[in-house]
Amino acid sequence: MSKTKKHFGIIGGTGLTALENLQIVRREIARTPFGEASSTLSIGRLIDEQQADNATSEEVVFLARHGHAHSIPPHMINYRANIWGLKEAGVNTIISVNAVGGIREDMVPGSLALPDQIIDYTTHRVNTFFETNLTSVTHIDFSYPYDEALSQLVLSTAQEEGIDIIKGGTYAATEGPRLETAAEIQRLKRDGCDLVGMTGMPEAALARELGIDYVSICVNANWAAGLSDELITMDVIEKNITDGLKQVRRLLVALLNKS
Ligand code: HPA
Repeated sequence: MSKTKKHFGIIGGTGLTALENLQIVRREIARTPFGEASSTLSIGRLIDEQQADNATSEEVVFLARHGHAHSIPPHMINYRANIWGLKEAGVNTIISVNAVGGIREDMVPGSLALPDQIIDYTTHRVNTFFETNLTSVTHIDFSYPYDEALSQLVLSTAQEEGIDIIKGGTYAATEGPRLETAAEIQRLKRDGCDLVGMTGMPEAALARELGIDYVSICVNANWAAGLSDELITMDVIEKNITDGLKQVRRLLVALLNKS
C-alpha cells in the first residue's frame, strides 16, 4: 500500500448495486478508451447507519459492477473500463465487494471473508491493459494479488468494530454465468480454493496494472455446488447476503473514518 493519501473507490457486486448509506454529491459518466464503465460513478460521503448525521469526511467513488439495474452478467462486464474509469476519477485504493460461494467449511453463508490468493479459471475475458502501443512487453508482479497493507487495515478495522471476517483464503474466479458443477467444485477444493465467484478476475489484475491498491471483501452467499442440498438460486443468494452486506457497509464507514 502506498504512503500517499488514499482515495477510495468501492466496487459493489450482487446485492450492492447501490450503497444505501452513500450521500451522493455528484455523478460522473466514466467514458474511457475501452468504452463506458458498468455504471455512472456515484461520488459522495458514507453515512454511519447508526448515527445518520455522521458522514465520513472523505469522499468515495462508488461503481456498480453489474450496472445499477444489476443487468450486466459477470462475463460481460467491461472490467477495463471500470478500473480505468475509477483511476481517472482519482481513485488509488479499491475495496471490491464480491458475492461468492463457500467451499471451505468455515465459509458459511452470510459470513464475510478477505481472501489473500486467487486462482483464475476464467477463459474468455480481456484481462490486460498491456496489449498494444507498448514500448516494451510488460509483466506485472502478481504473486500476492491483494494489497497486503490494505488487507491488514481492513482486518484491524473489522476487529475494532467487532465485525467477524475470515482472514485469508484462495478465491477461485470462474467464467460463469452458470454456476459450477459439483465435480468442478471438488476440483477447485483439490486445487486449494476456499471460495468461488465470477467477478474477482481480471478486476484484481487490472487494478495492479494501474498501480491501484486492491482488496476484495467477499460475502458468502451459498454453499458452492454439491456441498449442500439447497438449490442455488438468486433468491437464496440475495437472502443470504443481506446481513453480510450490512456489516460491509459498517466496515466501509469505519475504514473511511480511519484513513
Ligand atoms: N459460484 C460462483 N459465483 C457465485 C456463487 C457460486 O456458488 N455464489 C455467488 N457467486
